[in-house]
Amino acid sequence: MSALWGGRFASGPAEAMAALSKSTHFDWVLAPHDVRASKAHARVLHAAGLLTDDALATMLEGLARLAADVDSGAFTPELADEDVHSALERGLIERVGPEVGGRLRAGRSRNDQVATLFRMWLRDAVRVVAVGVLDVVDALATQAAAHPEAVMPGRTHLQHAQPVLLAHHLLAHTHPLLRDVARLRDFDVRAAVSPYGSGALAGSSLGLDPEAVATELGFDSSAENSIDATSSRDFAAEAAFVLAMIGVDLSRLAEEVILWSTAEFSYVTLADAWSTGSSIMPQKKNPDVAELTRGKSGRLIGNLTGLLATLKAQPLAYNRDLQEDKEPLFDSVAQLQLLLPAITGLVATLDFHTERMAELAPAGFTLATDVAEWLVKQGVPFRVAHEAAGGCVRAAEARGVGLAELTDAELASVDVHLTPEVRGVLTVTGSIASRDARGGTAGVRVAEQLGGVRRTAADH
Ligand code: ARG
Repeated sequence: MSALWGGRFASGPAEAMAALSKSTHFDWVLAPHDVRASKAHARVLHAAGLLTDDALATMLEGLARLAADVDSGAFTPELADEDVHSALERGLIERVGPEVGGRLRAGRSRNDQVATLFRMWLRDAVRVVAVGVLDVVDALATQAAAHPEAVMPGRTHLQHAQPVLLAHHLLAHTHPLLRDVARLRDFDVRAAVSPYGSGALAGSSLGLDPEAVATELGFDSSAENSIDATSSRDFAAEAAFVLAMIGVDLSRLAEEVILWSTAEFSYVTLADAWSTGSSIMPQKKNPDVAELTRGKSGRLIGNLTGLLATLKAQPLAYNRDLQEDKEPLFDSVAQLQLLLPAITGLVATLDFHTERMAELAPAGFTLATDVAEWLVKQGVPFRVAHEAAGGCVRAAEARGVGLAELTDAELASVDVHLTPEVRGVLTVTGSIASRDARGGTAGVRVAEQLGGVRRTAADH
């Protein structure tokens, strides 16, 4: 089988040239989309009077058989096929002969073809990713619902800061993930524009209707500018960004699971099914799902930055560099397809040690802010209140006790406003319940939030 462009060449490509040029080992995944788009193209050729009724019927029947053979694996690329498009043209000609099969290529180029197919593939792929992300959200929300009252030390700088509800903390991970799903939907608004009909770069002269192809292939419209349509890949970079962002958001969760499962934290026990052992240390139970999540997020970031670097210096219009656009996205999607069910399983089966978390919740003087805010309610300026609460921490630390164990005399000596009534706010549950403004950690707000998260997830 000769290349699609053999006419002006006296010899075929050198072996190393062909090897470099070849893309069937990765672009074959576009084959089903390619055949679908070819059917649409055949119909516009027919509508433009460039295919007879009989030729169209033969071509559509041949393409249907080709699709079935691609699907079953009966038709696969051969060594001499440069890319998926060349291989499928060979497949069509083998099925319907060169007289009909050789007509399909009129008015289209692999440049508009590949840009269209890549969009089709990505639009489908990110829908699958979004479902997987929503599964993680569901696992987090289910764990939050199962622990409506469990408390934990909230942290900033990884230091104990203020007590919060475990459910509030778990739900904090759902919001970025829900925004990622919203980003994927938003990506689709811009991806739903079909480059078909742009030809190599200048558009088609054959009276073909790009809008008809766009509609048949599920796009919202056809491209306004054939040069842009064949050469821009910002849609792919945008998808790569959202996929990398999902990786980063999952990695933050993973990092916490890794910390939580250490002996020092002892917040969680990982289910056997979602952890691994060591080949030498018999006691080990390792958080590999979480570590692979953290590791793969680096790879997803690499796919984004690699693609941006590929794009950055390309003059208009199509350049062969663009063949490098697909593998990063194929890889990001494949990695997330591996990752999402595993992290969902890990989260769903986390066994939280709520007593341990409750015991640690007040440690590190996490109620000091409550002392300061109690003083503010007594009319003390916050600057003074902050000093006084800090004085309580210093006194308690010096004596190795908690804030609630300071004597009346010790409190009064720190600040005259510190009457014994201050002890009323020195409980973890009281502190949490008091933060009842919208977005706060109080149980009522977290319950509302859980409802909101579930509604947003269901709306996607
Ligand atoms: N395989 C190429 C790609 O992925 C499409 C072929 C375009 N080739 C060309 N010589 N214009 O971008």
